[in-house]
Amino acid sequence: MNLFATLRAPRELLFGAGQRHALGAIAARLGRRALVVTDARLAEDADFLSLVGQMEAAGLKVMIDSSTLPDAPVNSAAASAEAARGFAPDVVVGVGGGSCLDMAKCVALLLTFGGRPQDYYGENVVPGPVMPLIAIPTTAGTGSEVTPVAVLSDAERSLKVGISSPYLIPTVSICDPELTLSCPPSLTAIAGADALTHAIEAFTAIRRDPVPGISQQRVFIGKNEMSDHFALRAIALLWQGLEAAPGRRRCRRT
Ligand SMILES: NC(=O)c1ccc[n+]([C@@H]2O[C@H](COP(=O)([O-])OP(=O)(O)OC[C@H]3O[C@@H](n4cnc5c(N)ncnc54)[C@H](O)[C@@H]3O)[C@@H](O)[C@H]2O)c1
Repeated sequence: MNLFATLRAPRELLFGAGQRHALGAIAARLGRRALVVTDARLAEDADFLSLVGQMEAAGLKVMIDSSTLPDAPVNSAAASAEAARGFAPDVVVGVGGGSCLDMAKCVALLLTFGGRPQDYYGENVVPGPVMPLIAIPTTAGTGSEVTPVAVLSDAERSLKVGISSPYLIPTVSICDPELTLSCPPSLTAIAGADALTHAIEAFTAIRRDPVPGISQQRVFIGKNEMSDHFALRAIALLWQGLEAAPGRRRCRRT
């Protein structure tokens, strides 16, 4: 049996109720000027304002960009990077659902290397590490906080496009389930279905010949021992919780 496995992940992944309160200390380790990418709805949320407050209390200067639109249109990502250039951020923080996290990835990419999002479409086109990126998901389905992909919508091509590179994996991800409790039941259900689909896709993906260097040549390397482990665990947890989750009432520690 071939026990080939690989793990690409954030340098630090925090998971657990209340872990969002670690943001200030984490951000202060990575930079002094934080660009926070979110959407208009979340920008008014008390939890979001408290995250910003943590960074300010830790001594960071903060700029908020709440312009994320659903499915992160290419043009808005380019405009967002342009608008932030004068602020000269040295760390980007994405807070929100998959759209905000993908937008944050693309903005960090453009602030680091310049150009247009279109220059990086496809696999392994990103030339090197992007500036430090912190991902804080508020939905529990896309997995964008750990993936090497930014999914954008391109109106000119009438389709969704992907920028895929291990360099887009966030430096730190903070997954605090309490941030998802404000989701309406339909969003919780859709996100859960998204997570289940990802897990099944991962487990049923092709198994490739693990030639040396495969993880340097390909972004998507097929199933392996590590991805099987996480996929089966995810399917088991979703089996236990997906039906009940949308009905959960907001109930949390402060
Ligand atoms: N990068 C990846 O690996 C990857 C994988 C799968 C999907 N995606 C992308 O993710 C996007 C979808 O993300 P999504 O399903 O998280 O939705 P979303 O980010 O588009 O958000 C949908 C709506 O939910 C709201 N919302 C988010 N969190 C909330 C909360 N806690 N409480 C109340 N409302 C909240 C948002 O404000 C928004 O109005 C798509 O663009 C898809 O292409 C990316």
